[in-house]
Amino acid sequence: MDLAIDHHTARVLLEWQVELGATEAVLDAPLNRYEAPEKQVQDKALSKAQPATLVLAPEVDAVQVARQAARGAKDLVGLRAALETFDYCELKLGAKKLVFGDGNPEGRVMIIGEAPGRDEDSQGRPFVGRAGQLLDRMLGSINMGRSTQLSKDSVYITNVLPWRPPQNRDPKPEEIAMLTPFLERHVEIVAPDVLVLMGNISCQAVLGRRGISRLRGHWFEALGSPVLPMFHPAFLLRRPAAKREAWADLLSLKAKLETAV
Ligand code: URA
Repeated sequence: MDLAIDHHTARVLLEWQVELGATEAVLDAPLNRYEAPEKQVQDKALSKAQPATLVLAPEVDAVQVARQAARGAKDLVGLRAALETFDYCELKLGAKKLVFGDGNPEGRVMIIGEAPGRDEDSQGRPFVGRAGQLLDRMLGSINMGRSTQLSKDSVYITNVLPWRPPQNRDPKPEEIAMLTPFLERHVEIVAPDVLVLMGNISCQAVLGRRGISRLRGHWFEALGSPVLPMFHPAFLLRRPAAKREAWADLLSLKAKLETAV
């Protein structure tokens, strides 16, 4: 029987057992206590007894660890390595791949999305699913893209979270908090002329505010760059009527690039 299950399934199964009243894991394999002679049951339990298998995270300040790790990264290769060895975010256990970034880090625009979905998790690249294809078309409409030859027309793309949340659930505030130092260092290293925030989660991480319907289309200043919040392409897939506003924002981005250094 293949017992390989992913982290999130294992956790749900464990939580179910705890809910039923299990307080301790004693043996690796089930033991039928009705069939075995009493002495054997006792001996086996004593010889195999182990401490409870629930490994609790050590009492560390994950945000502080993240800040130190991110600060130590000299370039994108170092930052990627720092994320690969950062073990305080549970999302990492359930994800197939680290989704770090894509496009041209020399490009003038850096786009920050929310988190990888299923397609991104299997390919290890941000925005490759349906929302990503729409994003590519949106960028194409202003003659920009992630694989454009000239760096003046190219973009670099990353996400607030580099690991896929289970069932694409919203990131938890503590996950955003512990991954924001990496995002901030990412922006610092890429040093774009303009930052574009796709949706509420990236606005939360970079501007500390939500309310994308009010924020979108307005320019802010953060992390050393002009910042433009926009509707997330996944939202535009659900609400095509909002593409009107997205088009206005793309024109605003283009105009900003013509005036920004
Ligand atoms: N949505 C995001 O925010 N990021 C991705 O990489 C894909 C979908």
